[in-house]
Amino acid sequence: MAQSTADDAPIVELHDMGKMYGNIRALRGIDLAVRPGRVTCVLGDNGAGKSTLIKVISGLHQHDEGEYRVDGEPVRFTTPREALDRGIATVYQDLAVVPLMPVWRNFFLGSEITRGVWPLRRLDIERMKKIADEELRAMGIELDDIDRPIGTLSGGQRQSVAIARAVYFGARVLILDEPTAALGVKQSGVVLKYIAAARDRGLGVIFITHNPHHAYMVGDHFAVLRLGALELSADRGQVSLEELTNHMAGGAELAALKHELAQVRGVDVEGLPEETELPATPASSS
Ligand SMILES: Nc1ncnc2c1ncn2[C@@H]1O[C@H](COP(=O)(O)OP(=O)(O)OP(=O)(O)O)[C@@H](O)[C@H]1O
Ligand SMILES: [Mg+2]
Repeated sequence: MAQSTADDAPIVELHDMGKMYGNIRALRGIDLAVRPGRVTCVLGDNGAGKSTLIKVISGLHQHDEGEYRVDGEPVRFTTPREALDRGIATVYQDLAVVPLMPVWRNFFLGSEITRGVWPLRRLDIERMKKIADEELRAMGIELDDIDRPIGTLSGGQRQSVAIARAVYFGARVLILDEPTAALGVKQSGVVLKYIAAARDRGLGVIFITHNPHHAYMVGDHFAVLRLGALELSADRGQVSLEELTNHMAGGAELAALKHELAQVRGVDVEGLPEETELPATPASSS
């Protein structure tokens, strides 16, 4: 049976999902719901399973256990194209752009608009420029010149163009794999702003990040992965930034590390938390 048709019914749902790479269990028991107009943040340390999770959702890999549903219907995608056809778009960190081509040309890369009929068919340049310009503006992205080679934009601006492009081509779920990882503070702010803009246009956003501060600025739900399992899955109202940071840092482990690092000359452990401040399961205080 299809799920309810309520406005915030999940677009993407995982139930008890697991994924093996040969004998290695990369994910187990994953429950996740991605709703329209919400930002779902996926956090976790290196190797926790974040990329594997989005590879399953984006159709690059298949799950081995549990269920993956889109609009309430069980699916098993065999290619990213199938996921894209259901409106699930992924923006990878190493964006597939052609640096020397203008912004508008990259916006339409692979989906160019043409006019006329063969043999007189040609690119409808004016129309593509106009649409790219309008779409970028609608997302609040102001570029002085849409003819600029995309390679001359900052990393944050390039990510924003990729987000606007996914929105224009009908994405309902937008997956961003560590879009702020290689960016400075200001550029990260730019990307966070467009994540919020995509959410405000009703997309369900999956935002993968190492950074609990970035996650907390835009997130409605937080899923923290640890060794392939969900260590925390909480709505914004149920978790503070401090608790989220502690979960990310691996609480007790970090405190133990502090103790070890304190023995090493030239390492300043002042900023690291004490063991006593970090109960394994942080008490919920508000
Ligand atoms: N193609 C693969 N074959 C075998 N094992 C893999 C493969 N891809 C990932 N793994 C393993 O699965 C686990 C999860 O990896 P994954 O790349 O999903 O982590 P991640 O959270 O994205 O890490 P990072 O923050 O470093 O990107 C790791 O133990 C990794 O070694
Ligand atoms: Mg990864």
